[in-house]
Amino acid sequence: MNVVVVTGTPGTGKTVIAKRLAKQKGFLYIDVKKLVKNFTLGTSYDKKRKSIVVDLKKLNKVLINIIEISKENKVKGLVIDSHLAHFLPRKYVDLCIVTRTNTKKLYSRLKKRGYSKSKIDENMEAEIMEVILDEARRMKHKIKIIKN
Ligand SMILES: Nc1ncnc2c1ncn2[C@@H]1O[C@H](COP(=O)(O)OP(=O)(O)OP(=O)(O)O)[C@@H](O)[C@H]1O
Ligand SMILES: [Mg+2]
Repeated sequence: MNVVVVTGTPGTGKTVIAKRLAKQKGFLYIDVKKLVKNFTLGTSYDKKRKSIVVDLKKLNKVLINIIEISKENKVKGLVIDSHLAHFLPRKYVDLCIVTRTNTKKLYSRLKKRGYSKSKIDENMEAEIMEVILDEARRMKHKIKIIKN
């Protein structure tokens, strides 16, 4: 079974890419935002960032469970959509796609979403500093960068 994770800074097109890939390959699309809600994987709410703080250990457990059950049930492949998906151990992941977007485009996308200035700045900085790409490399994943 193929496990593809799609990670990247918020707004860089993970969901667009992941859904497209799942459709093309006939893989199952895993929406981690939904998992976090349904499995109550949020530990708290970050008021300043207006975002849920996710329990990474719990999330990995749930994702590994899904991977194992999918294998048992002969699922062809999974596409896991999350900016935290690259924290899955290397042995479970065949390919780690990192979505990237240039600063101008990313700024306008985040602005359009109505994000606060501090949230936009934080994400812009993370994208410029290649935070997620660096984390994915440290996890030793096989990486493919998709610019969009
Ligand atoms: N290839 C593309 N061409 C044009 N617009 C795009 C492309 N990819 C993404 N977008 C636009 O950028 C915005 C963000 O895309 P998307 O929701 O896929 O990002 P994301 O990485 O999943 O964000 P989040 O981390 O918040 O879930 C959307 O409005 C989408 O329409
Ligand atoms: Mg998304």
